[in-house]
Amino acid sequence: MAAELKGLVLSGGAGTRLRPITHTSAKQLVPVANKPVLFYGLEALRAAGVTDVGIVVGDTQAEIEAAVGDGSALGIRATYIRQDAPLGLAHAVLTAEEFLDGSPFVMYLGDNLLRDGITELVDRFRSSDAAAMILLQKVRDPESYGVAELEDGRVTRLVEKPKEPRSDLALVGVYMFSPAIMESAHAIRPSARGELEITDAIQHLIDRGLQVEPHEVTGWWKDTGRIDDMLEANRLILDVLETRIAGELTDTSVEGRIVIEEGARLVRSSVRGPAIIGAGALIEDAYIGPYSAISPGVVVRRAEVEHSILLQDSRLEDLDARVESSLIGRGVTIARTSEKPRAYRFMVGDSSTIGLV
Ligand code: G1P
Repeated sequence: MAAELKGLVLSGGAGTRLRPITHTSAKQLVPVANKPVLFYGLEALRAAGVTDVGIVVGDTQAEIEAAVGDGSALGIRATYIRQDAPLGLAHAVLTAEEFLDGSPFVMYLGDNLLRDGITELVDRFRSSDAAAMILLQKVRDPESYGVAELEDGRVTRLVEKPKEPRSDLALVGVYMFSPAIMESAHAIRPSARGELEITDAIQHLIDRGLQVEPHEVTGWWKDTGRIDDMLEANRLILDVLETRIAGELTDTSVEGRIVIEEGARLVRSSVRGPAIIGAGALIEDAYIGPYSAISPGVVVRRAEVEHSILLQDSRLEDLDARVESSLIGRGVTIARTSEKPRAYRFMVGDSSTIGLV
């Protein structure tokens, strides 16, 4: 393949399955092990030698731009492409037509994470004649994804979120395309959910008799669109963390894989990794258990946390029961009050979920 591969990262979408976090924040910026999901994708592209990257953005454009900037800190050159409405992944490709300018490209969904990166696959695509390369992985709930049917190692059919899947091979949210995809994206019609599906555009390539090369991904892959997936991704990344302790520990015990950033203070507490505690966090008379990611500026005082993601500047204080499997938004306070009458007192955003003991 002669022309240089570009990158196209999709970072729009409403993130409805991660509400209420996504009422105020882009789903691609929710941190996994204290780093926005989106950054893992941008780094994977960079590692594969793809540095000219278009980022398709929607309503959360300002926030994405504030986080990624010109991309130089991540070793890429970012160009922002505004998609006026979330009308589908193939619509995003059409929106990026001018940026892509006839180049082959890697399309990366900004909420996807692949343990082994994409370098090898991108290299393989560079030296192939295929019109597209798709990544597949067996899943237990194929009806939640685009599903591929193969025959003798060749892709015969692709269906977006079929009610009755004919295979358990889901489409991973990373695709490699030759410029031929543009004609197919122009040709297809919106699906039942009103979107121009990339799955249909790839099917259109097959119908045109073009080669679509499947590749089964063996390392773990996560689409972090739901809280359980987010927590799992957090687990998987924390599991490979390298211990680094730069914060200040007073009468505090730590064990396991742990990162404690500079400026974090831990007092009379106990931390059992894998866990990460961000800059400026205060952990006092508290327990931080395995698979916790504590963002910068968080306060945990006289409380216990395990298997949870706490976003920037949230506070947990004086809690009787352990906080588990939770995703706590930015600036959230959960604390016991001594005011009378003794009652639960909430000020909680739309679409929140609270589990009480
Ligand atoms: C999208 C695609 C789907 C693919 C999935 C991977 O779904 O439409 O084919 O399997 O990404 O993450 P969405 O997550 O936008 O519903």
